[in-house]
Amino acid sequence: MLSYLHGFHAGNFADMHKHAALWLILEHLRKKKKPFCVIDTHAGSGWYDLGSEQAAKTGEWKDGYARAKDGANAPEMLQQFLNYVAAFDPVAKGRDYGVREGDDYQGPFYPGSPFIIRDMLRDEDELVLMELHPREHEMLHHRVKRDARIHLHKRDGYEGVVAMMPPAIRRGLVLMDPSYDVKQDYQKAAKAIREAWEKWPTATFILWYPILLDGFDDDLRKSFSAIKASGGVLCAELATDQGGAKGRMRGTGLLVINPPWQFDQQLGDIGNWLAKTCKLPGPANHQMRWLVPAA
Ligand SMILES: C[S@@+](CC[C@H](N)C(=O)[O-])C[C@H]1O[C@@H](n2cnc3c(N)ncnc32)[C@H](O)[C@@H]1O
Repeated sequence: MLSYLHGFHAGNFADMHKHAALWLILEHLRKKKKPFCVIDTHAGSGWYDLGSEQAAKTGEWKDGYARAKDGANAPEMLQQFLNYVAAFDPVAKGRDYGVREGDDYQGPFYPGSPFIIRDMLRDEDELVLMELHPREHEMLHHRVKRDARIHLHKRDGYEGVVAMMPPAIRRGLVLMDPSYDVKQDYQKAAKAIREAWEKWPTATFILWYPILLDGFDDDLRKSFSAIKASGGVLCAELATDQGGAKGRMRGTGLLVINPPWQFDQQLGDIGNWLAKTCKLPGPANHQMRWLVPAA
């Protein structure tokens, strides 16, 4: 069942936390000259018009990106990301970003994970994208097809990521950002990441999950505690203990296998700042713990 469309949620507090973590890891990968490969298993449509009817319907970005953009004294790495987002303007880029003549864009715009990654690639780096939703895939295809570094597949991200392991370029990152339309997604995500990590144990893996009143995040943390990666497994959650009924998020979580050096401190500062700055259903805080310590 594919009922989720990220356009309703782009730029919300969960995107802020997840995309800041993604930005930190990409910055780290860019430090070395050696090429890197990123596999984004649940890609979405690439970028979002925050002035669209979809975005207006939930207004979620106003509690996330809009607040972060206007917040004072953001940690340096988050500020870099926010500056990048503020300058992100697909309409100015035109065909290269898949802008269609005649489409009515309002702006401002928010980059999804495919474009955040794309904009951090160097000539020799690669990006593999998977997206199953027919319309999201078609839109993403139109937006990335001119970039030879990007390989888009209309494929199940859980099955695809394991089948692709390990990639030819041996430094890199897997981002898994499911929509959790159905509860089986939790088990599928944990199984796919475990099998992919066994075949590519040196890579960094990020799994995103929502924190709900009656969610399955406990099961995910348990599964990840059994992944004995040499770089450890970190759990980071931005959440409140209020709200969360009827499928609404009370928080957002990330499980990160083999995070880069100092990632925990950087994400800790960013998470604490987002907890003060973004609007969650109640007073929020950011918590981090190592489920598996780095060797
Ligand atoms: C949360 S959104 C992705 C957002 C994106 N990663 C970002 O950060 O901008 C999840 C996407 O996964 C797609 N999807 C759902 N099930 C999938 C599957 N089994 N394989 C690949 N894509 C899937 C949905 O259509 C949706 O576009």
